[in-house]
Amino acid sequence: MEERSQWGTRAGFVLAAVGSAIGLGNIWRFPAVAYENGGGAFLIPYLFALLTAGIPILVMEFTMGHKYRGSAPLTYRRMNKKAEGIGWWAVLVAFVISTYYSVIIAWAISYSFFSFNLAWGEDTEGFLFGDYLKLVEVPGQFGSLVPSVLIPLIIVWVLVLGLLIRGVKRGIEIANRIMIPLLVIVFTIIVIRAITLPGAITGLNAFFQPDFTQIFSAEVWVAAYGQIFFSLSIAFAIMITYSSYLPKKSDITNNAFITGFSNSAFELLAGIGVFAILGFMATSQGVGIDEVVDGGVGLAFVVFPAIINEFPAFNEFFGLLFFLSLVLAGLTSLISIIETYVAGVSEKFNVSRTKSVLFGGGLAAVLSLIFATQGGLFFLDAADYFINQFGVAALGLVEVILIAWILRKLGTFKNHANEISDIRIGSWWTISLLVITPVVLGYMMFELLRLNITKGFDTDTGNYEGYSDMFIMWGGWSLAIGALVNGILLSLIKWKSNSATQEETEDISNVK
Ligand code: ALA
Repeated sequence: MEERSQWGTRAGFVLAAVGSAIGLGNIWRFPAVAYENGGGAFLIPYLFALLTAGIPILVMEFTMGHKYRGSAPLTYRRMNKKAEGIGWWAVLVAFVISTYYSVIIAWAISYSFFSFNLAWGEDTEGFLFGDYLKLVEVPGQFGSLVPSVLIPLIIVWVLVLGLLIRGVKRGIEIANRIMIPLLVIVFTIIVIRAITLPGAITGLNAFFQPDFTQIFSAEVWVAAYGQIFFSLSIAFAIMITYSSYLPKKSDITNNAFITGFSNSAFELLAGIGVFAILGFMATSQGVGIDEVVDGGVGLAFVVFPAIINEFPAFNEFFGLLFFLSLVLAGLTSLISIIETYVAGVSEKFNVSRTKSVLFGGGLAAVLSLIFATQGGLFFLDAADYFINQFGVAALGLVEVILIAWILRKLGTFKNHANEISDIRIGSWWTISLLVITPVVLGYMMFELLRLNITKGFDTDTGNYEGYSDMFIMWGGWSLAIGALVNGILLSLIKWKSNSATQEETEDISNVK
């Protein structure tokens, strides 16, 4: 058995965790999910889920990985012999996600090249579905492999598996040290350009405008939890695996806060950027924002190319930046998704990292070919929907119930985290995991199931009369953004004031 890998530095771990969290979910999914689920009103379930489930579970998973020092299945087994299966379930969810996540990155690579001459032309929809994906007419058919998707897909797999073979410190850590700062620079340029476009404010109003009629809908709440879990990379083995490479003397809680707040700050920034650009499009066409907004694939690969055509200047350059940001954000997340089963397989079967990368990654690469066929988009849509509705959110609920109620581990975990962290956790953490998350998420998932069965049920509860929407809108979002900025600053100050002690302990723990 090889000696267990470790991160080189604390910053290396934090960058890798942030790199895993910030992904296609932030740029590709969040803006559309927020818009569809009540716009500004989505903020309430979103922040609630972040503070009572997202960050508490992140602290819990960091603690589990650090305490038991194993991939997800091994960590669950060390916690309780009978629980290993939950770890494998989480790894399986990650495995399935990696098979289609890699394909979306492949599309983004192609589109980065198409940006050089705006190859998508005027009919961006026809270009995506016809010229590029060569989509079959009937969902469920495979058709043949599409070479223009296959080539970038091979590049994605070779690159990512090559980095994973190099290991935690020399592969994953170095990749994140380069890609994450680059992503932040690229994305900041896009957002600055976006909010200075004519019509940007129309888009921002549409995004932030609360639709309170949706706030009591179970679907909106489950969407908020699903978004938080997917976006924070929790409940599908990733953060347990990453934190298992922490040295003995490491911070847990503050690292979780930095990761959680950075991810949500980036997510809000992506929402602002995307909607400012949609506002520009709607204004220049003289139509309403709802006519240009679209989710997922449509937004990134149909609407965006169309908008880039309309940019006042440097169209090719902004096209390249946008698709490059998708590639960078996607790659750093894909690495973490694959690492879950690389670590799981290598520990379970006692094989080297290289063998397990080639076996696990190789199998996922072969299966990803399904999504590179002419019928691939339909399969991809189905897999993504299924994983998010029933995979990630359900797994999060099972994980919390198992640990808080069945194994009753919260007390032990709290002590473990508090012994080594800059910030101490108390009753907020325990109550969130013991009561709030199981009750709220459990009830909402039950409701969602029930509503799906008895379709047609009207959940409208009417608007909040008497309040000015504008007041709630700007007040609410300012509070949210303020809270995030505050969270990041406080965490960094705390980190700085503790860094001397931390470095000392890191040095000690690295000497073996
Ligand atoms: N956390 C990753 C994302 O948001 C998986 O895409």
